[in-house]
Amino acid sequence: MFRQQFLNSIPQEIVDLVVKDYESRNNYETSTMNKTHPGDSLFLVLPYCQKFFDNELKFKAGNFYKHTIPYFPHTDFRINLESELNVVIPLQYTGEQASLVIFDQAWMNDSVTWCLNHDLIYFSVNTGVKGKPSDYPDVQFQTSEPIDEHFYFKYLTHEDRDLYFGMSGVAFPFQPTSIMAFDNRLIHCTSKFKGEKLGLSLRFSLK
Ligand SMILES: [Fe+2]
Repeated sequence: MFRQQFLNSIPQEIVDLVVKDYESRNNYETSTMNKTHPGDSLFLVLPYCQKFFDNELKFKAGNFYKHTIPYFPHTDFRINLESELNVVIPLQYTGEQASLVIFDQAWMNDSVTWCLNHDLIYFSVNTGVKGKPSDYPDVQFQTSEPIDEHFYFKYLTHEDRDLYFGMSGVAFPFQPTSIMAFDNRLIHCTSKFKGEKLGLSLRFSLK
């Protein structure tokens, strides 16, 4: 399934304009994640995203996001929107550089968030579910082994290792001026990090 990071793909001047657009907003959807609609920033970044794809990118949904706590493993696909392509644009961060971990495992149904060994959390789009991906036989391409030890220690020690049983993947550094694009049926999460990061997350159909 498609998954690629394109480094040095958006000029810093455009990144600065998009950050300025975010900072000009005065209301956010949730106080904890500071989500807000991409607005005009979509049109600033779209030409830089489009050039990597032969098919026209049809915008379906998206938001700015700013957070200090890693996101749980989740997917973003909505069957009714056919919004299978995620484009994540890192904008700025403080502290240590985080990575976006994109696993090899996929969930072909409507998007969910695995709450691991935490209490179930309500998410409006990526429905919160109990437990870990390996508890769900519908998760495709599971290995039958613990997650690679080196990969776990480098990116995922904020959660217990057994919560990633059956999983494998890659990590893209949260590098401003890069574009991360991937099939959002692939399970993904934030690496461990300390600090705050701001990005733009866009979902497209390629049909
Ligand atoms: Fe996501």
